[in-house]
Amino acid sequence: MILFSDVSKRYDKKPVLNSISLIIKKGELLFITGPSGAGKTTMLKLIYCSERPDSGHITVSDWEVSKLGQSEIPELRRNIGIIFQDFKLLTNRTVFDNVALALSIHGMNQGKIRHYVNEALEEVKLLDKASLYPQFLSGGEQQRVVIARAMVSKPVVLLADEPTGDLDVENAKTIMELFSKINGKGTTVLIATHDENLFRNSGHRVVHINDHYIEKEYVG
Ligand SMILES: Nc1ncnc2c1ncn2[C@@H]1O[C@H](COP(=O)(O)OP(=O)(O)OP(=O)(O)O)[C@@H](O)[C@H]1O
Ligand SMILES: [Mg+2]
Repeated sequence: MILFSDVSKRYDKKPVLNSISLIIKKGELLFITGPSGAGKTTMLKLIYCSERPDSGHITVSDWEVSKLGQSEIPELRRNIGIIFQDFKLLTNRTVFDNVALALSIHGMNQGKIRHYVNEALEEVKLLDKASLYPQFLSGGEQQRVVIARAMVSKPVVLLADEPTGDLDVENAKTIMELFSKINGKGTTVLIATHDENLFRNSGHRVVHINDHYIEKEYVG
């Protein structure tokens, strides 16, 4: 499903990832962990082509990501759900409109948009808050809207960067349960996190990067 083959990446002259090879199976839920600056976010960015590797190959389903032309990137991204701290909810749009935005950009008709957005909000149990503005929701609820927004276009892969970073233990648990549920329906899920509590006893594979390499891999 996702393949890193001998991938290296540096920023300016500074190496971040050095000859990383990794196979992520279709339908897997995988954690990427390691110290701050290890390259976790960079790995996710390479997958959705916001950064390019200096050498090696990355494939996602049938896309050879490392070779995609600029014009092919939007099509790749339509198939990837992204939960990143820098993609905040728009404060001047309702919960419904925040989730709908990705679909309206794709030119879908209103009836279909309503159907898919309601379905995504139902999934995260926020249908009753659809008409509110994000700032009237708790942090945990806002993160669930972000998940609905990422899932509304039914991506084959979900990438989450520190998805529980700002949340307390109880909300983090709820978010993890949602990821498990999404993964249970067949979506491949990749979670970059510092938080060992997320993967301890999870039964999912954990890839630990350190010093530019995959230092160890184990089942959490
Ligand atoms: N656009 C950039 N330009 C230059 N250096 C960068 C850039 N993005 C990241 N880096 C550097 O690359 C290294 C890896 O960054 P990355 O964000 O992938 O780490 P991370 O493992 O996600 O860290 P954290 O746990 O703090 O989020 C860091 O040393 C960072 O400073
Ligand atoms: Mg990071």
